[in-house]
Amino acid sequence: MTKQIISKIVDKFAYFNNSKEKQTMHILLIGSGGREHSLAWKIASSTKLSKLFIAPGNAGTLQYGTNLQIDIKDNDSIVQSCIQHQIDMVIVGPEEPLVNGVYDAIKNNPKTSAIQVIGPSKFAAQLEGSKSFAKQFMDRNNIPTAGYKEFDKNSFTEGVAYLKTLALPIVLKADGLAGGKGVVICATHIEAIAEFEMMLLFSKFGEAGNKVVVEEFLDGIEFSVFAITDGETYKILPIAKDYKRIGEGDTGLNTGGMGAISPVPFVDEALYQKVIQKIVEPTIFAFAKEKIVYKGFVFFGLIKVGEEPFVIEYNCRLGDPETEVILPRLKNDLLDIFIHLYEGKLGEIVIEEDPRVAVTIVAASGGYPKYYNTGYTINGLGYKNDHTDIFISGAIMENNEVKTNGGRVLAVTSMGKNIEEASANSKLALESIGFEEMYYRKDIGYEFLN
Ligand code: AMP
Ligand code: GLY
Repeated sequence: MTKQIISKIVDKFAYFNNSKEKQTMHILLIGSGGREHSLAWKIASSTKLSKLFIAPGNAGTLQYGTNLQIDIKDNDSIVQSCIQHQIDMVIVGPEEPLVNGVYDAIKNNPKTSAIQVIGPSKFAAQLEGSKSFAKQFMDRNNIPTAGYKEFDKNSFTEGVAYLKTLALPIVLKADGLAGGKGVVICATHIEAIAEFEMMLLFSKFGEAGNKVVVEEFLDGIEFSVFAITDGETYKILPIAKDYKRIGEGDTGLNTGGMGAISPVPFVDEALYQKVIQKIVEPTIFAFAKEKIVYKGFVFFGLIKVGEEPFVIEYNCRLGDPETEVILPRLKNDLLDIFIHLYEGKLGEIVIEEDPRVAVTIVAASGGYPKYYNTGYTINGLGYKNDHTDIFISGAIMENNEVKTNGGRVLAVTSMGKNIEEASANSKLALESIGFEEMYYRKDIGYEFLN
C-alpha cells in the first residue's frame, strides 16, 4: 500500500471517529440499586454512549462510568451536575426524584432545558406518588382496578363505618410514597380499623398517610408489564414477575423483591391482548388526551383474577429486581430507543427479545427486611460466564474491596432454556459468591417448575 492510500484510510477513520463522537452522548443515570447497575451495564453496550455518570451509583456501576456523590433528593444538585458534565440525557431510576419533580427542574432551567429526561413530569409521577391520583385516573379512564374509597382525617368516622361493611380481607393504602410499606392487608375488621386509625390519626406513615385509600381485595396472581412511552405511543418491554416475600414459597415479610423471572409462563397471547387493550392503551392514550407529560417508563403492577387483568398499582419507573431480568432479554440498544423517543420516532422501534428465560436471584443481608448488618466483604464477584451476570444492589467500594451496605446486596441473573436451567445457573454462581450472613431464596420461579 502506498503512503498516500494509508494516509487516506487514517483520515477516513479520524472522520469516522469524529462524526461518531458528535452523535454520542453524555448520560447521567440516577440511582444506586441493582436496577441502576443493570441500566449502566446495558447503556455501556450502546454505540451512542460517550460518557456515563451515575449519581450516586454503587460498587457495580463504577466499572461503566463515574459515580457522582450528589444528593439525588436535591433537584438543584442534579441540575448543577448536568451543567458541569455537559449532560445530554438524564435517565432516572428510582421514583423519589421523579415524584420530587426532577423532570420539571431540568426542563424549566434555561441552561438544561434541552436535556432529554427519561422519566415522567412531576404531575405524571403522581401515578406512583399518590394512590388517590392513580385511582381517580383509572376511574375516569375505565381502566380495570379494585373498587375503592378514600378518606382523610375529616372523614375518619365515615371511614370506620365503611370498613365495617366490607368483606375480608381489607386493603388499606397510605396515599403517598411510604418506601414500599404503605400497603396493609388486614384479615379482620378490628385490625383494619386499628390500622386505619394508626395511618390517619397517628401518622404511622407520616404525611404519606394523610389520605388513605381503602380497596377491595383482589385474589389472583401478580405480574409486571413495562412500557416505554413518549406520552402518545408506546413499546412493551419483556414481561416479568417478581417475588416480593422474604421466605420461600412466598411466605414472611414483604421486601423490595427477592428475585424475578422473565418471561411469565401464564401470560399467554389472550391475556397479553387484554392487558394491551384494557390497560396499556387506555393509560397511554389518556396521557395524550389529558395532556400529561410522560416520557419514560410505565410499570403496570397487574394481577390476573380469573382470566382478567386488573391494575394493582402504577409505578413511574422500572422495577427492581425486574430490570435485572428485562434488560438481559432486551436485544435493542436502549439509548437508541430513548433517542427515537425524543425524536418522536418511538413507533419505528421494533422491540427484540431474547427467546431464552432469565431468572434473577437476590442475595440479601441476613435479617433483611428487618435489622441487618453491613460492611462485610463480598467474595467471588469475579465469577464469569456467558449466561450469568452479577448486578450489585447494595455494596460500595471501600479500600479496593466491595463491601455490603444495604439489605439487598446482589442480584444474580442467568439465562437458560427454561426457568429450571436459568435458576440452576444463578444458584451455581451463588455458590461461588459470598459474604457473611448472606441469604437468598432458592425457589424463585417455583410455581412454574415441573
Ligand atoms: P402496592 O404498593 O400497591 O404494589 O401494593 C403492594 C402489594 O400489596 C401488591 O404487590 C399486592 O401483593 C398487594 N396488594 C395491593 N393492593 C391489593 C389488592 N387490591 N388486592 C390484593 N392485593 C393487593
Ligand atoms: N419490585 C417491585 C418494585 O420495583 O416496585
